[in-house]
Amino acid sequence: MTAKRCLGRRSRPLCSVLAVRFLALVLWGVLGARALDNGLAKTPIMGWLHWERFMCNVDCQEEPESCISEKLFMQMADLMDSDGWKHVGYEYLCIDDCWMATQRDNDGRLQADPKRFPGGIRRLADYVHSKGLKLGIYADVGNKTCAGFPGSFGYYDIDAQTFADWGVDLLKFDGCYCDSVAHLADGYKRMSLALNRTGRSIVYSCEWPLYMWPFQKPNYTEIREYCNYWRNFADIYDSWQSVKNILDWTSNQKGIIDVAGPGGWNDPDMLVIGNFGLSWDQQITQMALWAIMAAPLLMSNDLRNISPQAKALLQNKDVIAINQDPLGKQGYRLRKEDNIEVWERPLSNLAWAVAMVNLQESGGPRSYSTLVTSLGKGVACNPACLITQLLPVKSKLGFYTWTSVLKTRINPTGTILLLLENASHTHLN
Ligand code: GLA
Repeated sequence: MTAKRCLGRRSRPLCSVLAVRFLALVLWGVLGARALDNGLAKTPIMGWLHWERFMCNVDCQEEPESCISEKLFMQMADLMDSDGWKHVGYEYLCIDDCWMATQRDNDGRLQADPKRFPGGIRRLADYVHSKGLKLGIYADVGNKTCAGFPGSFGYYDIDAQTFADWGVDLLKFDGCYCDSVAHLADGYKRMSLALNRTGRSIVYSCEWPLYMWPFQKPNYTEIREYCNYWRNFADIYDSWQSVKNILDWTSNQKGIIDVAGPGGWNDPDMLVIGNFGLSWDQQITQMALWAIMAAPLLMSNDLRNISPQAKALLQNKDVIAINQDPLGKQGYRLRKEDNIEVWERPLSNLAWAVAMVNLQESGGPRSYSTLVTSLGKGVACNPACLITQLLPVKSKLGFYTWTSVLKTRINPTGTILLLLENASHTHLN
C-alpha cells in the first residue's frame, strides 16, 4: 500500500490497521533482535584463541615454543597474515588466561607477566595491528581468573580503560570465582557498559550463561543486550566425545537458537581442528556443524605445525560463507533417526545449508535417503533447487525438484554438508 493511497478518506481505517500492524512488526523486530549496541560481530567473529591447545603453560624455560608469551602470539600473528588465514576471515588473535602478572601494579591496573611479555600488551597490540589483525585479551568477572590470576571484581572500569589504552579489540570475560549469581549478572553488565564508555570498539565475549545454568535458566534476551557472543556449555577438549557433548547439548536447547543473530551469537567454544584428538571425519563434522550453528570460528591449534588437510578444511571458503551468512540465523537439528542427525540452517537468498551426521561409530559408510520436501521447511526445493555438496569434498549434485529423493553416503562420525540453492534464485534458472 502506497502512502498516497493511505491519504484517501475511505481507506483510513484499513490504513490505521495496517499502520498499527506495521508498527507492531517493527517493534517486535527491534525488541526481538535487540543486541549489544556496539556495531560489532555482525557475523560470527573469526580468529584464533590459545586456550585449548596451549592452556596455562607458563614454563618458558622448559617449553619456550609453547609457553604463553608474546613470542607465541607474534608467531601466530605472522602466520595468520602470511598463510592465508587473514585472507579468508580469521582476524582476531586472542590471548586466553595466564597472560597476567600475579599482582596488579601500584595504580591498580592489570599488567602482563614481565618475563613472558617483556614488551607489554600495548606493544603486542601494535604488532598485531601492523599485520592487519586484531588483538583479543582475557579477564574474569570474579575475584580471580579460572587459573588464579587477578580477577576484575571491583575493577571493571579500570580494566576496561586499561584494555582500551592498550589497543585491545576483544575481551573474553570469564566467570570463575564469582561469589553470587547476582554479582555474576551485575559484573557482566557493568563490564559491558565500562567497555562501551571507553569509546573503543571492543568485542565482548561472555561466559555468563555457562556460569548461570547451575543456578537458574539464563535470560538470553538480556545476555544478548550486553554481549557479542556467549558460552553456554562446558569447555571443549580435543576429543570426539567433547564435540558430541556440545552438539548434543545444543540440539536439545531450542530456546537458544532464535536469540542468535547479527551482533550476538551462541559460542559452542573453539575449533580443535588440526590437533590430535579428532579423526578426519570428525574434523569435518566440527567444521560443518560450527557453520550450521553460526558459531564464532576461533581456532585453537598450532599454526606453525598444521597439516595441509586441516588447513584446507579451516580455510574452506564455501563453508566459511555459510558460517558468515549475512542473514545471521542459527541452524538447528531437524531430526535424528537411527543415529543419523539432520541439521539445517536458513541462509540469505532462500538458500539452506543442510548437514547430515552419521553418529554410528561402527561399520562403514551408511546410505541415507531423504525427501527434499522434508528439508528447509518444505520451501528450500520448492519448486526446485540446485544442490551442491561442500563437504567432505565439493561436488555439484544437480537439480532436485520438490518431490525428489536425495541419496547420500556418510562415513562413521562424519558429515555431509550440502548447500541447497532455490531454483528461483540461481543464475542457471
Ligand atoms: C574457563 C573457560 C575456558 C578458559 C579457561 C581459562 O574454563 O571456560 O575457555 O578460558 O577458563 O582458565
